[in-house]
Amino acid sequence: MNTYGEKAMTLVSGDGAWLVDSNGKKYLDALSGIAVCGLGHSHPAVISAISEQATHLLHCSNFFSIPNQQKLGEKLCHISGMSNVFFANSGAEANEAAIKIARLYGHKKGIKLPTVLVMDNAFHGRTLATLTASGNRKVQAGFEPLVRGFTRGHFNDIEGLKTIAENNPDICAILVEPVQGEGGVRIADADYLTKLRDFCDEQEWLLMLDEVQTGNGRTGKFFYYQHSGVQPDVVTTAKGLGNGFPIGACLAYGEASGLMQPGNHGSTFGGNPLACSAALAVVNTLEEDKLYQRATAIGDIIMQGLNKELAGLEHVKEIRGQGCMIGIELTKPCKSLYTQALEKGLIINVTADSVIRLLPPMIMTDDQAHQVVNILAPLIKDFQ
Ligand SMILES: Cc1ncc(COP(=O)(O)O)c(C=O)c1O
Repeated sequence: MNTYGEKAMTLVSGDGAWLVDSNGKKYLDALSGIAVCGLGHSHPAVISAISEQATHLLHCSNFFSIPNQQKLGEKLCHISGMSNVFFANSGAEANEAAIKIARLYGHKKGIKLPTVLVMDNAFHGRTLATLTASGNRKVQAGFEPLVRGFTRGHFNDIEGLKTIAENNPDICAILVEPVQGEGGVRIADADYLTKLRDFCDEQEWLLMLDEVQTGNGRTGKFFYYQHSGVQPDVVTTAKGLGNGFPIGACLAYGEASGLMQPGNHGSTFGGNPLACSAALAVVNTLEEDKLYQRATAIGDIIMQGLNKELAGLEHVKEIRGQGCMIGIELTKPCKSLYTQALEKGLIINVTADSVIRLLPPMIMTDDQAHQVVNILAPLIKDFQ
């Protein structure tokens, strides 16, 4: 179906931070398949985990115990401080699980129409519930009727929450991206998550974080919330977890972790042996190769380079980011920069019309990070 529009080129292979198209042209990848290939392309640990597992067992259903699923679940809980995991295949599905947990929680509290508070500019996926939760009309238009049980607030606005809470006693949870990715790499105030946690505690709401894009080391910690030390009730991830092998996870803590019961929820492929082997290799490699630190170092090189090169330009509104998640907001729409960068052999993305988004792999070398700046800065400078 024509869901993705015209494709710029055909990619046939990848190695580390490099991709190669069908004409043999090489591209420096500063997008990682949209925050997926954090370990770069053809990472030996992922290749060998998938190859090895494929010789034993690809799939067996969740009727049976899967050793690497168990190991991955334990590892994720250990890293994150969460207590239970549900494995899915994508970010949207991980968020569906979170929304279902919120509804079980609301019903348990005696709320007939449990409502999840979501934010403007949010992106949570393309299923009916997650597109309803997303704060972007482009994602929703044409797919009405939307799903009931959501209400919207302003991202990064703690004051506004009081009025929302007073006017809506059915709210039982907040679902929020700690950094809005598709919404334009929007970073909340440093104390936003702590204040959200306090507010949720006061109201007895679940704090549910969508770390589909921010998770798996990208911002310099395994999960973004670990920068602030808050304990969420629910956190979702996907994208970078399998480095390209589809897997999503919904992690829960405390009361939220005990709400799902046998038969409540499930997924045929979710957490199958192959997916869990790939993800286990990713999580182990992130730790062994200290890629959290690399994410911070690469982000610093790119941000400092861009700040230096683009200083004083009127059409550059803001350069912001954390680790390998960087946004350069211009004062005007800049979609064409994507094609211009491709011509120069660099893969970037433009989101929210006027924000250049960089999501480089965490295995990028310092030289490659400088190269990103050297290619991109002149394009932005000359952008009319
Ligand atoms: C924050 C966030 N949540 C959810 C999703 C949806 O993930 P998926 O495309 O794997 O369903 C995305 C995808 O971009 C995302 O960035």
